[in-house]
Amino acid sequence: MKLSLFHQSAFQPVVELFKSVFSASEGEVEGDVIADFVANLMVTTDPQDLIGCVVEENEKIIGCIFFSRFTVPSGQTAFILSPVAVSTAMQGLGVGQQLIRFGLEYLKTQQVDLVFTYGDPNYYAKTGFTPINETLVKAPFPLSQPIGWLAQSLDGKAIQPMSGETQCVQALCDPSLW
Ligand SMILES: CC(C)(COP(=O)(O)OP(=O)(O)OC[C@H]1O[C@@H](n2cnc3c(N)ncnc32)[C@H](O)[C@@H]1OP(=O)(O)O)[C@@H](O)C(=O)NCCC(=O)NCCS
Repeated sequence: MKLSLFHQSAFQPVVELFKSVFSASEGEVEGDVIADFVANLMVTTDPQDLIGCVVEENEKIIGCIFFSRFTVPSGQTAFILSPVAVSTAMQGLGVGQQLIRFGLEYLKTQQVDLVFTYGDPNYYAKTGFTPINETLVKAPFPLSQPIGWLAQSLDGKAIQPMSGETQCVQALCDPSLW
């Protein structure tokens, strides 16, 4: 398996990956929705605000994650992890965790202070995320599953409560994603 940063040359295989993985797990409609979301994320996000990581096996992309810039009122450098996909045949083998750890190590080299995500707390706890309350850091949209609002600090310092609004990149500014 080869882990590397995402480049735009992988645009189409990445869209196909998300479409097939989410069609298999959530149904075809959700597969199309996530494929459109990922394409939008890659097209509309300033390259300096988007970090993708891919994992390849036999030169085929079998996993992909994206981190996009997340603006927080404290002024710290933050990114949010979303979405994540591992090809259906390769799930449950630790690939997703390896990919997330690879991404977090890269973010550390870029002096990123905080990483957020919104998802299953049991899964993301395996790579260091813990549930946070919105009194600590607000989410940019009302959360349908507040238990899934998660974060971790990469600089070793505890996350301090911050008052004020947060801002995600344009592709994530869709209330139905939250
Ligand atoms: C969720 C996903 C990214 C996990 O990647 P993976 O490579 O299959 O997971 P790993 O092998 O790294 O981790 C497996 C562990 O996580 C758990 N796990 C896997 N998917 C999970 C999920 N959706 N929710 C909770 N736990 C999950 C497994 O039970 C396993 O736990 P164990 O180590 O205690 O046995 C992958 O299964 C996937 O792409 N699923 C469909 C798309 C999706 O739901 N993406 C996440 C939302 S964006």
